[in-house]
Amino acid sequence: MKRLSAVFLIAVCVLLAAIAPAHSQRPRDVEQQINALLAKMTLAEKLGQLQQLDGEAGGNYRPEHVDLARKGLLGSTLNVRGAAKTNELQRIAVTESRLKIPLIFGFDVIHGYRTIFPIPLAEAASWDPSMAERTAAVAAQEANNAGLHWTFAPMLDIARDPRWGRITEGAGEDPFLGAAFAAARVRGFQGSDYSAPDKLVACAKHWVAYGDAEGGRDYNTTDLSENVLRQIYFPPFKAAVDAGVGTFMSSFNSINGVPASANRFTLTKVLREEWKFDGFVVSDYTSVKELINHGIAANEAEAAAKALNAGVDMEMVSRSYNQYGPRLVEQRQLSLATIDEAVRRILRIKYRLGLFEKPYADETREPGSLLRPESLRLAREAAAHSMVLLKNERNVLPLDKSVKSIAVIGPLADDRRSVLGPWAGDGRDENTVTILAGIKAAAPAQTKVSYAKGCDIKGDSDAGFGEAVALAKESDVALVFVGESDDMGGEAASRSSLDLPGRQMDLAKAIQATGKPTVVVLINSRPLTFGWIADNVPAILVAWMGGSQAGNAIADVLFGDVNPSGKLPVTFPRTVGQVPIYYNHLNTGRPPEAQNKYSSKYIDVPWTPQFPFGYGLSYTTFKVSNLQLSVPRIRVGDKLTVTVEVENTGKRAGDEVVQLYVRDPVASMSRPVKELKGFQRVALQPGEKKRVEFTLTRDALAFWNREMRFVVEPGEFDVMVGSNSQDVLEAKFAVVER
Ligand code: BGC
Repeated sequence: MKRLSAVFLIAVCVLLAAIAPAHSQRPRDVEQQINALLAKMTLAEKLGQLQQLDGEAGGNYRPEHVDLARKGLLGSTLNVRGAAKTNELQRIAVTESRLKIPLIFGFDVIHGYRTIFPIPLAEAASWDPSMAERTAAVAAQEANNAGLHWTFAPMLDIARDPRWGRITEGAGEDPFLGAAFAAARVRGFQGSDYSAPDKLVACAKHWVAYGDAEGGRDYNTTDLSENVLRQIYFPPFKAAVDAGVGTFMSSFNSINGVPASANRFTLTKVLREEWKFDGFVVSDYTSVKELINHGIAANEAEAAAKALNAGVDMEMVSRSYNQYGPRLVEQRQLSLATIDEAVRRILRIKYRLGLFEKPYADETREPGSLLRPESLRLAREAAAHSMVLLKNERNVLPLDKSVKSIAVIGPLADDRRSVLGPWAGDGRDENTVTILAGIKAAAPAQTKVSYAKGCDIKGDSDAGFGEAVALAKESDVALVFVGESDDMGGEAASRSSLDLPGRQMDLAKAIQATGKPTVVVLINSRPLTFGWIADNVPAILVAWMGGSQAGNAIADVLFGDVNPSGKLPVTFPRTVGQVPIYYNHLNTGRPPEAQNKYSSKYIDVPWTPQFPFGYGLSYTTFKVSNLQLSVPRIRVGDKLTVTVEVENTGKRAGDEVVQLYVRDPVASMSRPVKELKGFQRVALQPGEKKRVEFTLTRDALAFWNREMRFVVEPGEFDVMVGSNSQDVLEAKFAVVER
C-alpha cells in the first residue's frame, strides 16, 4: 500500500512537472540566465536581437532570413506563419547559430487568426469584456498552433475621430471602457502565463495618442496637453501593464513635436519609471527610419540613436540599429549599457515565453486547432452580442417567423470579404458565412428569400435599382445591407466623408419608397452618417463587420433568436463637420444648450450627435429607477456605493447595460460634463427587476491636475446612472477633506 502511494506520488509529480509552464521559472533564475547569455554575446549578436524583419506575403520567410538567423543577426520576424514554416526558420536559429537564441514570431492577430471574430470596435459595443477575453483566447490558441508567439494586439488607441480608419481596431472613445477591454484582451491572449500552449504574448499598441491624428488622416501629427494624455489616452495602456502585457509598440505619430518612436517622456519616463514595465518595446513598421521624415534626425544613424536612447528596444523592418549601431557605439552616441538593456528586455520575454526550452510548434496540432466548431460558435455569439439596435419603430424587428417572403438587398449582403473586416488575420473568404447564406439558413422552410444587389459599394451606377425595387415590392419585408467594404477601414483608410459610399443611400431611399417594411442593416467599421435613414427608415441595426460567422449572427438577431443588447462605444455624428464629437467633452463658457445666438453650436446642424455614446435599444424595454447613494458625503479616498433598480418592462428576455457617469462640476481645472466610471450588463426576464450596485472608488473621482498629480478635489460631485450617456438619473454627493 505504501509503495503504491509512493508510485502514485511520483506519477503526480511527473505529471505536474510536464504540465508546469516554463514561465514558472523563478524571475531571478531568468535574470541570471539573461546575464550569462549577454556576457557571451558580441555587439553584432546583441544588435541582431533588436532586429525584426518582415516575411513574404502568404507567410513564408525570406531567403535572407536564413542567413541572418544562422549568424545570430535576427531577433524576430513578423508575418511568417504556419507551424512548418516557423519551425524551419527556428531550427536554423536554435541549431545553427552560435548562441542558439530562439526567434520570436509575431503577427497581427487583431480579431482572430483563422476564425475571425467581430472587429474590436464591435466587440467593445458588447460592453462585455469577458466576451472579448474569450475571443482573444481562441485567437491565441489558433495562432499559437500556427507557430506564432506574439500578437501585435490589442490596439488601445482612444479614437474620437471616425474619419481615422483605425478606429475599427480599438474600443472607441472612452478611457474607462477602453481600459476594461484592454485588460480583458491581454488576459485573453496571454492567460495567466503566456508560455502555456495556446497562448501568445500581447502587445499594447500604438503607444501613444495615434488615434488623435489631426484631421483623422492616418499617421498624422498629434498635439495634446499632458493632462489629456494622462486622463484620456493613457488609461487603456496602464490597464494593459497592470494586466501583465509583455510588449508595447511605439506609434507613428509625433506627440507635441516629438515622434512617439523617439519620445523619452512616454517610452521611458511614463512606461518604465512610473509604470515599471519590464517587457520590451517594438517600433512600428519602419517608424525608426521615419524619424528622418519627421525632421528630428538627419540620417538613419541619428534616427537609430534617438529611438534606442528614448526606449524603443526592437526595430521593425528598417535596419538602422544594425547598420549604424557599431559606429554609434564607437562615437559614444549610444552606450553599450543601453544596448544591453534593450537586449535584456527582449530576452526576458523570450524566456518568459519558454522559447529556450520549447522553441518549436507542434506541427501535428495546427490543422485541428483551426476553425473548431466551438470557435465558430463563439464567433457567432460574439457577432450577435456586438450588434446595436438604433431604431425599431412599430416593432418591425424581430422578423415575424411567419413572413412569406424576404427581399435581401444591397451590395454587402453577399460579400464574403467585407464582413471579415480590416486586419482579418489569416482569415479566408471561403470560411465566411455571408449574410444571404445566414438568412436563408435561418428562415423558415416556407419563407422565400430572394436577393438583389442594387448597386456596388462604391461607384456611380444605379442600374441595379430597378431589380431591387421590384423585389422589395413583391416581398413582405425588405432588408437593406449597406455600409463599407473591409478596405475602407483599418490602416491607411482614413475618409473625409462618413456618408455611405457610392449610391447606397439612394438605394435605401428607393427601397423605403416602396412602402414595404424596411430594415437597414449597417455593415461598418466606424461610425457613419446616415441622417436620412435615421429620420425615415423604421428599423436600423448596426451589425459592424462581424467576422466569419457574420451571416448567421445577423440572422440570429433579425429573427429574434438573439435579442440585441449592444451599446455604442463611440458617438455617431450627424455630419462629418461635427467631428471630433465625443460625450466626455468639457463644457464651454457658453454652453450649447443656451437658446441664444452666442452659444457654442452650429448654425446649420444641431450640436448634438445623431446617436450618443452608450446608446442602443433592445426588442424589450427597460426602466432604470430609484437611484440611491450609500451616504450623502464621503471623505477623500473613501468609497461610495451607488444603487439603482433596473426592470424589464417589455415582453421578452433581454440584457440591459446600465452605465454610471460622474461629474466634478467645480474643480481647479475644467472637468468633462460626464465621464463613464462603471457599467454592468444585467440579464432580465420579462417583468423582472434587479438591483444594480456600483462602487465609486477614489480613482473614479480623481484627475490629473496642473501639477500632474492624480488628485481628488473636495467639493460636490454629480453621479448619473442610465441606459446611455444621455438618458440618466442624477444625484449629488459631497467629498470632504480627510
Ligand atoms: C501597423 C501596426 C502593425 C504593423 C505590423 C504597421 O503598419 O501600424 O499596427 O502591427 O504594421 O503589421
